Amino acid sequence: PRSILFSRHGESMYNQLGLLGGDSELSPNGVKYSEALPALVKRIMGDQDFTVWTSTLKRTIQTASKLDYKKVQFKALDEINAGLCDGMTYKQVKQKFPEEYSMRSQNKFEFRYRGGESYRDVVLRLEPIIMELERQQNIMIVSHQAVLRCIYSYFLEVCPEELPYIKIPLHTLMKLTWTAYGCEAQMYSLDI
Ligand code: F6P
Repeated sequence: PRSILFSRHGESMYNQLGLLGGDSELSPNGVKYSEALPALVKRIMGDQDFTVWTSTLKRTIQTASKLDYKKVQFKALDEINAGLCDGMTYKQVKQKFPEEYSMRSQNKFEFRYRGGESYRDVVLRLEPIIMELERQQNIMIVSHQAVLRCIYSYFLEVCPEELPYIKIPLHTLMKLTWTAYGCEAQMYSLDI
């Protein structure tokens, strides 16, 4: 059976501060995850070779930096663009744009950030990535929460209402495997 590995980047400085978006560096915990990742991949997949796809943002590139495989960056794997809300906390968004905050909670999949993207937009920009994934073997993706929710949902057939709420924890490697009965997901969390 064929499998795909994917992971969010390690904890970033913005994650620590609860800020949306940005292009921050990894936190010390995030660096620890990047250092632990090569052994975790080997434990699960053995000596197989991989191609690692990252976004163009520092936090995914740094997370993949210790992996000894070929790497390719894709802009289509960048995190959902939060537009005017980029760099804010959820609390600040609620204070500054209360209507948008409530619209987002009513329909998180369709809600488009002002000057930014909706989950639907992310699903659309991921189409070429998904097509390529279907053709390739041994791919590991290091990307972001919203993007990985979309990729996961495509393969596991999660509906748009549930997609934006899927839990994709930090410091966890996920493995999707195709069996005779469909696609299965396994999670390997590191305690960092
Ligand atoms: O908080 C990290 C983050 O990747 C943000 O950059 C992004 O806006 C958010 O998660 C996406 O999650 P949600 O759609 O649940 O706000």
